[in-house]
Amino acid sequence: MSAKWLHNAVFYEIYPQSFNDTNGDGIGDINGITEKLDYIRGLGCNAIWINPCFDSPFKDAGYDVRDFKKVAERYGTNEDLYRLFAAAHEKGMHIVLDLVAGHTSEEHEWFRQSQRDKNNEFTDRYIWTNFCFEPADGLNYVAGESDRSAAYVLNFFKCQPALNYGFYKVTRPWQKPMEHPAAIATREALKDIMRFWLSHGCDGFRVDMAASLVKNDDEQKTGTSAVWADIRRMLELEFPDAAMISEWSNPPQALRAGFDMDFFLNNRGNGYSTLLRDYENQDGEDHSFFKKDAGGNINRFLDTYLRWYQDTKGFGYISLISCNHDTRRPAYTLTTEELKLAYAFLFTMPGVPFLYYGDEIGMKYQELPTKEGGYFRTGSRTPMQWNAGKNRGFSDGRPEDLYLPVDETPEAPTVESQEHDPASLLNTVRAILALRHSEEDLQADAELTVICSEPDRPFVYSRGSLILAVNPDSCPKQLQRDFGERKPLFTLGEGTYENGCLTLHGQSFIVLQ
Ligand code: NOJ
Repeated sequence: MSAKWLHNAVFYEIYPQSFNDTNGDGIGDINGITEKLDYIRGLGCNAIWINPCFDSPFKDAGYDVRDFKKVAERYGTNEDLYRLFAAAHEKGMHIVLDLVAGHTSEEHEWFRQSQRDKNNEFTDRYIWTNFCFEPADGLNYVAGESDRSAAYVLNFFKCQPALNYGFYKVTRPWQKPMEHPAAIATREALKDIMRFWLSHGCDGFRVDMAASLVKNDDEQKTGTSAVWADIRRMLELEFPDAAMISEWSNPPQALRAGFDMDFFLNNRGNGYSTLLRDYENQDGEDHSFFKKDAGGNINRFLDTYLRWYQDTKGFGYISLISCNHDTRRPAYTLTTEELKLAYAFLFTMPGVPFLYYGDEIGMKYQELPTKEGGYFRTGSRTPMQWNAGKNRGFSDGRPEDLYLPVDETPEAPTVESQEHDPASLLNTVRAILALRHSEEDLQADAELTVICSEPDRPFVYSRGSLILAVNPDSCPKQLQRDFGERKPLFTLGEGTYENGCLTLHGQSFIVLQ
């Protein structure tokens, strides 16, 4: 673990297209983020992850990078981003960029060169077979699109050719080992991009598909881990405060490879989904834990979480998220009261939590046609709803020019409408995060112990010296247990602790000190 500032960090994820448009073109921009730093700080978020904001043909919303060192024109200029770094630092905040390490756009100059029939510096920057009719041995590939008589390997969509970091096990003549000069050159090129942004004031990276770099890797990801360990050594020497956050979805592997933290995601067949929205609903029902009276069982989440927590304690963090740009928003299935409890839990757990823009007001998931390769994800990427004014305060532009339509329904939540209601979701998020910042025991490092996870009792856990309990169901739940002298420090709903009996009314949360 290098970045010490993470111990009390709470991240706000911004999809830059949709956050705040300051030049009226209908697309959010970097200056729009700078303008809202106080709002974000006021929420209790002291760090920001910005989805890719670099030059791109936007076939995958910017995860298809055409120039890693240039801010996309539609978001502004590099100078705007440097100013954002400086403004954030002045307010004690940190900014993390999205590093798409495993692939580029098919329009990146490296790939254009690599496609040529003539050998050049970039011939092996990507993964190619030896012949246009030779398939890529189980990997996704494209053939017939280049002068070069070979097929190239994809990392994700068709527009995203895989960069060549080498093969852990080489089984075909066209596969280069990890030590091959071309694979090393790719790694050095990645370091060069990282140095560029870090030296301009960026505080670290969220790394896209971090586990995908080395092909034919073993189950432990030994090859890919070695690449990241090498990159970590560079960071330790040159940028010791840089934070590295992986989209890996296996914290024990990612943290051992040198990441500071890894996301607990819901699309890789693990238990997170069982908290906020049940993707594994065998019987067609949503049994997620925070859905009232849905028969949810937190042990489905804890089984994976606690194993990973024990395995990573002391050398990195697990990041829980409200959702992200790849998932449906939590308000898709959860009511405001359910969201309050879910956030109370997420933001009092160890590690470094992430709040996706708009989840603090319960923005709805929209059913929309796909935009920029978003498909079902498009519905979670709509403009931020600031107020009741034009385009909900997101943009002065013409509604038909907006990146995506804003939620114009009368019941659409906005920051303005929730601002003065102490019980609103927005103010509840602020209160929970203020509590987290006031108690070291609620921050990243304090020990988590599960006290009771039986389904017909409140879920009770401790963080350091504090006892916490949550009951998402409508009926009251009790636990008889001696916690010594205790009084409530924070409550949502109603809860008491008297004579060794902890009682939580329906849909309640309590912190006892
Ligand atoms: C994961 C990103 O979160 C997602 O939005 C993107 O489409 C893929 N990686 C490919 O880069």
